[in-house]
Amino acid sequence: MASHSFHARLDALQRNRERQGSERTFKTRTSGICFSDNDYLGLSRHEQVIASAQQALRDYGTGARAARLLSGPCPEHHRLEENLAQWKKTERALLFSSGYLTPLGVVPTLVSPGDTVLMERQAHACLFDGARLSGARIRLFDRKNMPELKKNLVSTRKLAPESRILIIAESLHSMDGDFAPLREIIDLKKESGAWLLLDEAHAGGICGPAGAGLAAELDLIQHVEIQMGTMGKALGSSGGFVAATEKIIHLLMNEARTFLFGTALAPASVQAAQTSLTILRSPEGDLLRKKLAENITNFRSAFSPSVSGPIQPVFLGSNQLATKASDQLHSLGLDVPAIRTPTIPKGTARLRISLSARHSDKEIQQLGQALMALPKE
Ligand SMILES: Cc1ncc(COP(=O)(O)O)c(C=O)c1O
Repeated sequence: MASHSFHARLDALQRNRERQGSERTFKTRTSGICFSDNDYLGLSRHEQVIASAQQALRDYGTGARAARLLSGPCPEHHRLEENLAQWKKTERALLFSSGYLTPLGVVPTLVSPGDTVLMERQAHACLFDGARLSGARIRLFDRKNMPELKKNLVSTRKLAPESRILIIAESLHSMDGDFAPLREIIDLKKESGAWLLLDEAHAGGICGPAGAGLAAELDLIQHVEIQMGTMGKALGSSGGFVAATEKIIHLLMNEARTFLFGTALAPASVQAAQTSLTILRSPEGDLLRKKLAENITNFRSAFSPSVSGPIQPVFLGSNQLATKASDQLHSLGLDVPAIRTPTIPKGTARLRISLSARHSDKEIQQLGQALMALPKE
């Protein structure tokens, strides 16, 4: 009997996905020009980054072999944490084995039932999952709607004057491509005694001095309690991290379950991220960011401008239209993914174009022309 009800659920979910046009499959074809990854500076293919990962493979082997606190001294992990902390201008940093697993460990360590997480309605799935795991009450605000954030903060404070409030926001949004109104969020945060976890997954490497992110660009680092980042995007490797005070990091390394109970990041990934970080903070990093900025400007003049960062959404509405447009671009040798529900809200299906410093002027022109030729529906 029980087995039948499992099958019924599998079938119902499948039918539902088919009805909504949200069925996912692995790609079997690759097209010529990739506008779908988050390698904003092209560092995953940088010769020095690759060579350093190869060296780490030889020195330390393929895997970290155990969780960090079990596996003995990890000089490479410590060195990267020290450099991430310096880059983010904080006291310490802590690595996690993916960006996704970072808030799943961090949020439940900071808040618990009785507290409130006040988060963007549009936040990434891992931020929602971390908030849910914490058991704290979750309240939502629109990422651009500061009166709504203020209203939520005031009413939460009234309801539970002594409770902790953690605001969670993405600095550069992963799907909408816009920057958060960070100054306003911080002003409101200060008024209410809340803390802020700022996910800089997509901004890290691409904005601010030495690519340190939006908080660094706006000189607001000292007002962000937890800066979160990933090495899987502009740093061209994999893994996640948080940067914060000594006291917060000490707490996390003792209590964050996704840090404590998972195998540590592979040394080759750590070393690749370390080399990328060194490049990001060098004059070469400035040149790469300049090239990315030029590509964004060229794209915005070849096609209709929307947001100012490297993630450019082209809104099409339905899942079906977005899939059709993505297929059409694919047939022209352009890899541009369709982003559909449930990743984004219903009616906002889109193409997500990810621009990188590695794209040539010609490739950007080609993309702009192909987008202009899409049927207007
Ligand atoms: C905003 C945001 N945060 C966190 C993550 C998770 O990071 P990672 O892909 O490194 O696991 C992503 C992934 O796309 C993201 O877009």
